[in-house]
Amino acid sequence: MAAVPASIAAGDIFPDTAQVTQNRLVIGGCDVNDLAKTYGTPLYVFDEASVLNRARAYRSALETSYGGKSTVCFASKAYCAPWVLRLIAQEGLGLDVVSGGELHTAKVAGFPPDRVYFHGNNKEAAEIEQALRQGIGRFVVDSLDEIELLSSVAQRKGKRAAILLRVGPGVDPHATHAHIATGQVDSKFGLGIHAGAAEQGVRAALAKKSLDLRGFHFHIGSQLHEIEPYKQAIDVVFDFAVAMRDQAGLDLREMSPGGGFGVRYTTEDPTVKAADMIAEVGTYTASAAKARGFALPEVTIEPGRSMIANTAVALYRVGSIKKIPGVRTYVSVDGGMADNIRPTAYGSKYSSVLANRVGDGPETTVAIAGKYCESGDVLIRDAKLPMPRVDDLVAIPTAGAYHLSMASNYNMALKPAVVVVAGGKATLVRRRETFADLLAAEDPA
Ligand SMILES: Cc1ncc(COP(=O)(O)O)c(C=O)c1O
Repeated sequence: MAAVPASIAAGDIFPDTAQVTQNRLVIGGCDVNDLAKTYGTPLYVFDEASVLNRARAYRSALETSYGGKSTVCFASKAYCAPWVLRLIAQEGLGLDVVSGGELHTAKVAGFPPDRVYFHGNNKEAAEIEQALRQGIGRFVVDSLDEIELLSSVAQRKGKRAAILLRVGPGVDPHATHAHIATGQVDSKFGLGIHAGAAEQGVRAALAKKSLDLRGFHFHIGSQLHEIEPYKQAIDVVFDFAVAMRDQAGLDLREMSPGGGFGVRYTTEDPTVKAADMIAEVGTYTASAAKARGFALPEVTIEPGRSMIANTAVALYRVGSIKKIPGVRTYVSVDGGMADNIRPTAYGSKYSSVLANRVGDGPETTVAIAGKYCESGDVLIRDAKLPMPRVDDLVAIPTAGAYHLSMASNYNMALKPAVVVVAGGKATLVRRRETFADLLAAEDPA
C-alpha cells in the first residue's frame, strides 16, 4: 500500500474529509482528479463539512468558555463569496467587512445586517451611507476623523450609529513576554491607548448624539500561535475601560479581541487549535471583566484565516519541468501568484501532494513554480513530492484564506473556478473567468 503523506495524515492541514482512495486524493467524497477534468485547473475546492465544523466548534468554544453573550464573526477579507456567507449566516455567526464591496456581497448573500461589523481605517462617506442604508449592526471606528465623518453622516440621515472604538493596546503579538513595543504602537489601525488617542476618541464619541459608543475592539495580528499576547492586550484594554468608566462615564457593553488565530500550512508549523485558543480568550475575557467589576459585556471575535484556510485545496496541472543539475528542478503549474500571492508577498510556506498518485515514491525535492512573469512567482520552493511528470495534478492545501480574496488578473490571468464539495457532490459556485470578463470594465474604443 502506498504511504499517506504526513501533511494529509496530520489531519489539520488538509480539509477534514480528505482521504486517499486508490492512491488518489478525495475530498468531500469527490475524487479531485475528476473535478479537475470537469472544471479545469487551477481549481479551488472547498469542503463544506470543514466550514461547518469550524463555525460550530468556534461558536461553542466561545459560548461555553465565556458564559455571557457572544458572537463569532467571520472576517470576510479572508474569503468573501456569497455561498460561504450564506452558510456562515445559517450557523448564526456574524460578519466582519471592511469595504463597500464586502458590504454589497453581504447584502447579496442575505446576511442578517444586524450581525455585520464594518471595519477599516478609511471608510469613505459613500461606504458609510451604504452601511447605514443596509442597517448594519456596528461600525468599528478607527480614527478621530471617522468619529466626525460618521457622526455627521448619521445625523444627516437621522440615525444613531452603534459603534465600537478600535483601540491599539501596544502589544507585540510575537513577543514571548509582556512587551509594549514601539513597533506595534506604529500602526495605521486604531487609536493608541498609550499615546492618549484612544481617550480622545472616547470623549469625542461620547459627545456625539448620533453615536452610541458600546465598547472597544482590538486586533493584535494574524497567524498567532500563542495565547499570551491576547491576554496582555485584554488586560490593557480592560484597564483602559476602567479609566474611561471612572473618568468619562463610559458604559461598557461590548468587547472584541479580534481575530488572528493561527493555522498550520505545513507539518513543520507549530500545532495550533484555534478552538482551544478561542476558549482561552473567552475564559480570560470573562475573568478580566469580572475582576474589574464589569457586568459581562457582549464579546465578539473575528476569525478569518482559521475559519476558512484549511477548508480548501488549490489544484494545478503540471505543464513543464526544468531540471538545473545540482541546483533545482522547477515544476511549472498553470496558476501561481495571480491566484495565490502569499508566497511571493510574505514568503509563506505550503505543503503539497500529487493528487493523481498521492503515495508514490521515492520522494524528491522540487520547486512548484507559477506561470506568471516574475521570478518570485514560486508557490513552493522545497516541495517534497514523488518526482512530478507533465500532466500530474498538484494539490496545495490550506488554500481557503487570503488566496482568492487577494487574487489578481496579473498577466491578464483568468481567476480560477471554485467548487464546493459535500457528500460526494460538487457544486460550481464560481465559474472560471473568461476573456470577456477581463475586458468588461474597459472602454472598448
Ligand atoms: C480587524 C481584523 N479582524 C479580523 C481579522 C482576521 O484575521 P485572521 O484572518 O488572522 O483571523 C483581521 C485581519 O487582518 C483584522 O484586521
